[in-house]
Amino acid sequence: MAHYRITLLPGDGIGPEIMAVAVDVLKRVGQQLEIQFEFQEALMGGAAIDATGNPLPAETLEACRNSDAVLLAAIGGTKWDSLPNDQRPERGLLGLRAGLGLFANLRPAQILPQLVDASTLKREVVEGVDIMVVRELTGGIYFGQPRGIFAAETGEKRGVNTMVYSESEIDRIGRVAFETARKRSKRLCSVDKSNVLEVSQLWRDRITQLSQEYPDVELSHLYVDNAAMQLLRYPKQFDTIVTGNLFGDILSDAAAMLTGSIGMLPSASLGASGPGVFEPVHGSAPDIAGQDKANPIAQVLSAAMMLRYGLNEPEAAHRIEQAVLKVLDQGDRTGDIMSAGMNLLGCRAMGVAIVKALG
Ligand code: IPM
Ligand code: MG
Repeated sequence: MAHYRITLLPGDGIGPEIMAVAVDVLKRVGQQLEIQFEFQEALMGGAAIDATGNPLPAETLEACRNSDAVLLAAIGGTKWDSLPNDQRPERGLLGLRAGLGLFANLRPAQILPQLVDASTLKREVVEGVDIMVVRELTGGIYFGQPRGIFAAETGEKRGVNTMVYSESEIDRIGRVAFETARKRSKRLCSVDKSNVLEVSQLWRDRITQLSQEYPDVELSHLYVDNAAMQLLRYPKQFDTIVTGNLFGDILSDAAAMLTGSIGMLPSASLGASGPGVFEPVHGSAPDIAGQDKANPIAQVLSAAMMLRYGLNEPEAAHRIEQAVLKVLDQGDRTGDIMSAGMNLLGCRAMGVAIVKALG
């Protein structure tokens, strides 16, 4: 019987509610396929700040390091927004990514046929969209030095961040992207700003070089401003997108919104070895926390991504994804994806429906 140690980071806001649903779903699929999960909870984000003063306590990072995978819900909230930068919940997330070496972030944006009308774009534009954004996650302007707010000689302050990529950083994310495209429809679009930025010129050169090792994958390049426009104009032209940390942050939100509900989308953050972190793309939604209104589907699909990419249990992942499609086919909806004639469910009831759909 397979046995996995999973660290759960429920975090803040709606995090604990949606995490509870994902755990129920994992337990059910585990019973069916003889997979045993050993769950341990740890503190991160605002919850960790309240309890310890630190958004990523050392014991949390240690627990994550010693597990087979980490399932994270969501962190942050207005309560912690006024703290200095290095004490904010977001810092915990960045520390977790850096601490586990999670340089590759996979963010799928797939339109489910049941939810086409939830998109703000026209049906003919979004129907059939299936994009995978591969975002570099531990480099670029998020981590480059120097950074800070410094006093300039003129007496005024200067804010500084540095966008930097080394060849090896570009190559390793490039490889993940080419391999990902290879398993999909073999088209990779690399996004940069090489008409202005040297860091992007190096990025484009290395990705082009690397493409010689992947002759079966068709490579294209776009500037990031054009890529943003193309995502809205004709998203079906994209299959796999690879880009740096900041551009990936922005483009993955845009891609997510094509699907109409950010409450549906999971993500995976992976390193060269060791445990990955699996989490919804959406945030902690403090405005609806504790009201049993949250959509747990992104969390449940993150658990499926954990099974597929982190634990190599594709059958379990597939069953969970099918169960989600089944409840949507039945017309079950949470408030964020509700439309006329459908059954409105709360977070817990949606969880019960998904577990039931697993059979
Ligand atoms: C994301 C988020 C994070 C990021 C924040 C919360 C630090 O926006 O995962 O996309 O910018 O990477
Ligand atoms: Mg973001």
